[in-house]
Amino acid sequence: MASDTNSSTGSADPTSSDLTSNKQVEMDEAYSAFATEYDDFHRGSLLLTLAKKECMRLISPKPGAKFLDMAAGTGDATEQFFEYQDGVNHDTDSTATLVDLNSDMLAIAKKRLSDTKWAKDGRIEFIEGNADHIPGMPEDTFDTYCCYLGMHNMPNHDKVLREAMRVLKPGGKIYIFEVDTGTWYIGRLFRSLLFHFRHYILMMRVKNWAMASRIINSGREFPSPPDFVQEMKDAGFAIEDTGYHSMYYGIFALFIGTKPTK
Ligand SMILES: C[S@@+](CC[C@H](N)C(=O)[O-])C[C@H]1O[C@@H](n2cnc3c(N)ncnc32)[C@H](O)[C@@H]1O
Repeated sequence: MASDTNSSTGSADPTSSDLTSNKQVEMDEAYSAFATEYDDFHRGSLLLTLAKKECMRLISPKPGAKFLDMAAGTGDATEQFFEYQDGVNHDTDSTATLVDLNSDMLAIAKKRLSDTKWAKDGRIEFIEGNADHIPGMPEDTFDTYCCYLGMHNMPNHDKVLREAMRVLKPGGKIYIFEVDTGTWYIGRLFRSLLFHFRHYILMMRVKNWAMASRIINSGREFPSPPDFVQEMKDAGFAIEDTGYHSMYYGIFALFIGTKPTK
């Protein structure tokens, strides 16, 4: 990684990425419409803020870790990662690479993180690109692949998970934080209320019902936890126990897998 904040673009290899899928194009359009409101909307949710903090505690990155923040959006996971490395591990060597398809979201992450000591020390890299084919990324690069609330936007989980497998080091771990679309009754009730409430708030902010609906509904369509764990297994990840932590009585789930060493 170079000594200053790096940036590269995903346009390098458009043929290998699934950029023609309707869902992908629609989600990209929705995030462009939503980008400037995103941080206020998300940080206004105490539950989401607490859940993301809990995720980083469960991830518990090691000192010197190479961290991939996939579908980084405005950079929440990266900020948490460095705060954890500073506060818990007292580590100054770890690095983060933020990847996102949407240039408007990534521009906000760059603005937010560029003045930090982590960026000034050359420990942050930004890549505009698709999770299904990360441009210019060698295999066996990362210790941790983290994706907060990004997978439900992606039309081809299998391709994305296989690309995650490729870029992780043997023994490296993948963490996917998602809406839990499973069957816990309390979770279903709260989730349903939360979705309706957030749909309304989002619509007020972006003043565009169609865009707000795309964002809210893509979360609803995510597979149930056992089905997504099966997708991870099919992509080759080793899974322990159920393969996920259910959070807040089934509102969110953190999926965990390991790239086998051989
Ligand atoms: C709900 S936001 C999550 C952002 C951030 N991870 C967070 O927790 O706040 C979803 C992000 O996924 C990105 N995204 C959607 N499809 C993608 C893909 N195929 N490859 C990379 N990023 C993608 C969107 O551009 C958007 O920034």
